[in-house]
Amino acid sequence: MPKTIPKLADPATIQEAANLLRQGRLVAFPTETVYGLGADASNPEAVNKIFSAKGRPADHPLIVHIADPIQLSDWAVDIPEAAYQLAKQFWPGPLALILNKKPSVPLAVTGGQNTVAVRIPQHPVALQLLQSFGGGVAAPSANRYCRISPTTAQHVLEELGDAVDFILDGGACAVGVESTIIDLSGTQPRLLRPGHIRYPQIEAILNTPVKLPEMTTNDSESAASTLRAPGMMALHYAPETKALLCSADELSARIKTLQATTQHIGLLCYQSSINANSKLTIITLPAQADAYAQGLYAALRQLDELKLDLLLIECPPDNEAWRAVNDRLHKATARY
Ligand code: TXA
Ligand code: MG
Repeated sequence: MPKTIPKLADPATIQEAANLLRQGRLVAFPTETVYGLGADASNPEAVNKIFSAKGRPADHPLIVHIADPIQLSDWAVDIPEAAYQLAKQFWPGPLALILNKKPSVPLAVTGGQNTVAVRIPQHPVALQLLQSFGGGVAAPSANRYCRISPTTAQHVLEELGDAVDFILDGGACAVGVESTIIDLSGTQPRLLRPGHIRYPQIEAILNTPVKLPEMTTNDSESAASTLRAPGMMALHYAPETKALLCSADELSARIKTLQATTQHIGLLCYQSSINANSKLTIITLPAQADAYAQGLYAALRQLDELKLDLLLIECPPDNEAWRAVNDRLHKATARY
């Protein structure tokens, strides 16, 4: 996994955060993917606070974070061998598994569904917190509903302010996009959300094909229509500024045409040799998919804060390495 080696939090701080969780309060914490907004997953009242703090509809299920695969049986039933195989290979790590829920799991956590999402995060501060707390921590990304996920403690503060009781700072997240979600509740494993762990890695461990979501292209129309399907949120991860994807070869021409009518454009690119000017602000991310993913949300946030008239995003390559990034970019631009 890339870069940033986060520091451990001191034990007293972790104790304080774990005590707040026990009291039903909200604690934001770093994971290797994005920052999470945590509450005691066994306490429906605490879990409801997550929904109010985020402004998130109650039927959106949360991921339960645990410290050890032994705890899987506290949350799930009929756990297939595949879950333990994936846990052994990828946990702690950026992978969430959907399993049949145990009857005792509050419906507030699962959005009323009879399945539950579980993962062991890899960030040392998250693991310290989970070990100290001892139970499961329900945590969505620590952003307001439909906004860009936070990858630093400062982002969490900007998003949630006083709505969160405590923020553990573990530096910038190393992965930068949300975990891969694999549904193991049916007959065939299904990829629900692409992430740092790619589906061929899952297939290699399970020795069975993984069913993929339909959206695999850079074609924004087919992406938008897939994303309107029930259960898929088209407006996730979106900046407030109007954002459009643009293929690399069309960028120059597009910028010229747009600048005739638009005042100030932001460009998020990874390879283009276009120069910035007084009406064009550019952020260039690395041309390698994992490194790009790590910087993506901070870059979108930074461009969004400039309140420009339009953000153009250079289309990344349409291949497996870029699947998670392309998924998030399609969602960030889906409303246009
Ligand atoms: O990387 C991550 O997973 C981060 C960190 C904080 O762990 N968390 C995160 O949570 O991204 P959130 O709530 O922003 O996204 C959770 C996703 C949602 O798309 C939700 O629909 C899906 O997990 N999910 C949770 N439980 C599910 C279930 N029972 N069935 C299907 N999807 C589920
Ligand atoms: Mg989220």
